[in-house]
Amino acid sequence: MPKVQPHSGKFITLEGGDGSGKSTQAKLLSDFLTSQAIAVVATREPGGAPGADDIRELLLTGDPDRWDAIGETLLFYAARRNHLRLTVWPALAAGTWVISDRFADSTMAYQGYGNQLGIEAVQKVHDFTVADFAPELTFIFDLPAEEGLRRTEGRLHNEDRFEKMELAFHQRLREGFLDIARKNADRCVVIDATRSVEDIQRDLRAEIQNRFLS
Ligand code: ADP
Ligand code: TYD
Repeated sequence: MPKVQPHSGKFITLEGGDGSGKSTQAKLLSDFLTSQAIAVVATREPGGAPGADDIRELLLTGDPDRWDAIGETLLFYAARRNHLRLTVWPALAAGTWVISDRFADSTMAYQGYGNQLGIEAVQKVHDFTVADFAPELTFIFDLPAEEGLRRTEGRLHNEDRFEKMELAFHQRLREGFLDIARKNADRCVVIDATRSVEDIQRDLRAEIQNRFLS
């Protein structure tokens, strides 16, 4: 099955630690694109498709040691496969842009670096499941681990398995995301997520204008 047709929409992903402001910015970004008469689908991982949402529940609730890093990686990629097949690829093929709150860089950062499964192990599962498909643009939201955790403290939800991980995990995660950005410099733009919602949104829009709309 061809994954994406030649005249396809853009696939833009937002990545970073918990509480770094991705969902807030994803919403504003899709409003902006809509205002530019661009068809857009806003989605998220884990989830974003039938089956993937069921796996989300398995992954995000319960004790931190409910899954080990290998089991977790396989579940994230099983969910991702449905997300691509049922949501992302059909939208892009129809010329619709897709904004995804998290994608594969999250598995590399959380399972590869945070859980210390290692880069090579995650890359193998990635190559098998996703092959060479990649976002056109990825924003990496960078925030001190303590600040991200502080922002999520008041959340009333039970999807907190990763928020319960120790601080050292979140620090490895931050370094992991920065490493991913360094290794994929053409695709990734690091965003200083300590700034105001308005300043960050202005930067995201400017980047998109420069890359795709001018
Ligand atoms: P994420 O999706 O990355 O977990 P959210 O967008 O849900 O992050 O934001 C986490 C919390 O931080 C929310 O309460 C949100 O209102 C707040 N927040 C978002 N962006 C900022 C910002 N730039 N500065 C301060 N607080 C923010
Ligand atoms: P999410 O609702 O995106 O969290 P937040 O709004 O706090 O950023 O929940 C997803 C959680 O799952 C988050 O803690 C990151 C983690 N995760 C992974 O560990 N690996 C992955 O591949 C993905 C997509 C998410």
